[in-house]
Amino acid sequence: MNKKVEKAINEQINAELWSAYLYLSMSAHFANEGLNGFANWFRIQWQEETTHAMKFFDYLIARGGKPELKPIKAVDTKWNSPLHAFEETLKHEKVVTSLINNIMDVAIEEKDHATKGFLQWFVDEQVEEEANAQELIDTLKLIKGEGNGLFMIDRELKQRTFVDETAGAE
Ligand code: FEO
Repeated sequence: MNKKVEKAINEQINAELWSAYLYLSMSAHFANEGLNGFANWFRIQWQEETTHAMKFFDYLIARGGKPELKPIKAVDTKWNSPLHAFEETLKHEKVVTSLINNIMDVAIEEKDHATKGFLQWFVDEQVEEEANAQELIDTLKLIKGEGNGLFMIDRELKQRTFVDETAGAE
């Protein structure tokens, strides 16, 4: 496969695993704080990011490329509040969106139409990722991040279950 596209996708495998690592760290933080709903939400986010990494991984193999796993950047281990964690999540997802857009630019430059088609799923997914983080930021601001409201949100986030959205989406 095209070497520039292969390199860009390899970098993205690393970025998705870095995202997974960040959210697992957030999950550990909230479990430690006794906010088990938030811990659950971020643990599922970790699973989702792992499926994103694997979607890129499998795509490289399907196209005759080779996944190359590089060291994963360190992540924070503490956040001041749930609001702070979701603000960091939104910031992180915006970085991921720009990385996806960059790979799309490479695929367009290299006239790799198959990769363009493949990437569209991630372009759409990023819209959802940013919207989810923004919605939680808005809710946490509304309740001022404390008391009964926080308890209710924690309870709601405990209901989140993992759905592999990449399954069957090629
Ligand atoms: Fe894999 Fe949160 O983007």
